[in-house]
Amino acid sequence: MSFLQLFIIALVIHSHNAMGSSFQPYILAEKNSNLDEKSVQDQLKHAGFEVLGTTYPAKGYTTVTFSHPDLKKEAAKAVVPLGAVLRASLVQTKAGTEVSYCSPHWWAYATRLAGSSSDKLARKLADTFGNESSFGCAKGRTESKLRNFNYAMGMPRVSDVDVLSTFDSQLEAILALNQNIKSSPHMDIVYSLDIDKKTRLIGVHLKDGKGSDETVIGVADALSNPKQGGLYGPYEIYIQNGKVMAPRGRFRIAVAFPDLSMSTFMKIVAAPGAILDAFKSVADKKAIAVK
Ligand SMILES: *[C@@H]1O[C@H](CO)[C@@H](O)[C@H](O)[C@H]1NC(C)=O
Repeated sequence: MSFLQLFIIALVIHSHNAMGSSFQPYILAEKNSNLDEKSVQDQLKHAGFEVLGTTYPAKGYTTVTFSHPDLKKEAAKAVVPLGAVLRASLVQTKAGTEVSYCSPHWWAYATRLAGSSSDKLARKLADTFGNESSFGCAKGRTESKLRNFNYAMGMPRVSDVDVLSTFDSQLEAILALNQNIKSSPHMDIVYSLDIDKKTRLIGVHLKDGKGSDETVIGVADALSNPKQGGLYGPYEIYIQNGKVMAPRGRFRIAVAFPDLSMSTFMKIVAAPGAILDAFKSVADKKAIAVK
């Protein structure tokens, strides 16, 4: 073999490695599964996951949220805690109960966790539920692309969060948010997860308005097969040292549905603003004073 041939082989191997693996946001477990909500929860627990809360974001959709001690540790060290929670979805379709779950790699990288547990968690979920195919981003994205995810130029990234309000302490903020969300007709708390002493992550079900889970899922799943809408929410609010924050809709919705066309996104163009307004109203410090 000539030096030139060796050189070319080395180049090919190098560029292959540099390209790295690519990921999609979701994994299909089964199109027609025997599992129900309870058995999904039980199997997650059995595999060492912490089951948080279950929500029914739209007709026919059940979403089970869960975390893992390793994810919590990684989220505590990350700039945003969003990656601490993953989701499993049961959707009723003509073919039966479709079961799918979030790819630990996609969501760890897109929320800038270290990702050191992603291989292990992906294997656990594959062993528990199956691993028929990946979906949600046909071309896939590499780790480095995901760490800087944005849908298009000028769109927000994971670190571009909205600060909704600032309280004097973490406890004061937690009490206010709990009370305000409980008395809000527009949203429910699906889970509350303390990542550490200074950070609480809250997942909410948005029940009405232009940013409701049902509206977003209806648009996102109009043509989607497998269904991906059950793996989108609960949308997150988090409290860090008394500061109440949330990811931007134009990041959070796009990272869940990267393959939607611009014209499809235009159908929910009002969602990010509606979600922000709903969150601002429950994070408002004055809202508790009157109750
Ligand atoms: C899931 O399946 C794909 C291809 O079918 C494979 O590349 C991947 O390693 C599997 N993942 C796990 C965690 O088993």
